[in-house]
Amino acid sequence: MYSDRVLSGMRPTGRLHLGHYHGVLKNWLRLQNEYQCLFFVADWHALTTHYDTPQVIDENVRDMVIDWLAAGVDPAQATLFVQSRVIEHAELHLLLSMMTPLGWLERVPTYKDQQEKLSEKDLSTYGFLGYPLLQSADILIYRANLVPVGEDQVPHIEFTREICRRFNHLYGRELGFEDKARAAVKKLGTKKARLYEECRTAYQEKGDDEALESAKALLNDAQNLSMNDRERLYGYLEGSGKMILAEPESLLTAASKMPGLDGQKMSKSYNNTIALREDPDTITKKIRTMPTDPARVRRTDPGNPSNCPVWQFHLVYSDDSVRQWVTAGCTSAGIGCIECKQPVIDAVLAELAPIRERAHYYEENPDQVRNILADGCEKAQELARDTMRDVREAMGLTFG
Ligand code: TRP
Ligand code: SF4
Repeated sequence: MYSDRVLSGMRPTGRLHLGHYHGVLKNWLRLQNEYQCLFFVADWHALTTHYDTPQVIDENVRDMVIDWLAAGVDPAQATLFVQSRVIEHAELHLLLSMMTPLGWLERVPTYKDQQEKLSEKDLSTYGFLGYPLLQSADILIYRANLVPVGEDQVPHIEFTREICRRFNHLYGRELGFEDKARAAVKKLGTKKARLYEECRTAYQEKGDDEALESAKALLNDAQNLSMNDRERLYGYLEGSGKMILAEPESLLTAASKMPGLDGQKMSKSYNNTIALREDPDTITKKIRTMPTDPARVRRTDPGNPSNCPVWQFHLVYSDDSVRQWVTAGCTSAGIGCIECKQPVIDAVLAELAPIRERAHYYEENPDQVRNILADGCEKAQELARDTMRDVREAMGLTFG
């Protein structure tokens, strides 16, 4: 709320491929340089659909985290953790479930969609219906304001915002709020207190947005305020109660341009992937045997790059001069397809070499992976505990 905090989770699907790298991980690498970032393995989320095959989850968690690290996610910059190790997520999920209207969950578009798509599974479970609420707890527990997600997840963030507003509305009015807020104003010191009051009046009586912003800036800079007092003063400013939970926004991740080997979306279920840890020989073979423009039956037949999945790879990996060489050579039958694929092979191998090397290091040093996660879990838990203290208090769970 006061400084940007990014949170994102990924279901443990095992080893990641180039689609994940270009679609999600490169985005994370950028974000970790700019913001405080929390990235976690959503292993409970995996159980909502895979409750009958728990044996795959454990292995998938390890493999996925190794791939994050291999791709360059840096534990010195971002906090990496496993959802099920920060059990506070479960507590918040439970408490939020008390005030979540069933209809809101039933209306989330992914609910019916996924049930239909995964029709071989029985997903008429309590946990599956609650999936978006668990996601809300993941986000709200860190008061994260920015959530990088793909298009399909945007309704879940929207749902989270609604839950957040409902929560603050129901529980944000703490007993004696006005008195506590006025006491907090005094703590600002005479000069700042006067400025704050002036801005508050200007905003509440005249809707002066600039005054609102100056007052917020003043609160941000005030060193001697406790977290609680600062939140009270935020709420007091805008005329609401205390904001206990913060509304997140989605940071829409652009869809990846990285297609699969057959030109469809790269996905394990289509068997068209290049895994981040795939060995160079296999990668070379996979690209050499990629389908090309079906019109080029013989080497002497001209082709059209726009009918060819290899061209999609050139769009990701090649510069203008290589692309011109491809277009000219393909349409005139001047180059063969194997020749055309070589720059792509070289580029993919070059991209994956450092990634494979880092993955190898972590495969050989699993204790380091464990330590990184243990560290991350501890940091995450500290933040989660702060929020839970306020949530429990707001919901009357403090006696004894
Ligand atoms: N539901 C997300 C997905 O399937 C994973 C996820 C779980 C998540 N909790 C989250 C993403 C919190 C962002 C924030 O991709
Ligand atoms: Fe595809 Fe290149 Fe062959 Fe043309 S020359 S069909 S772009 S692989």
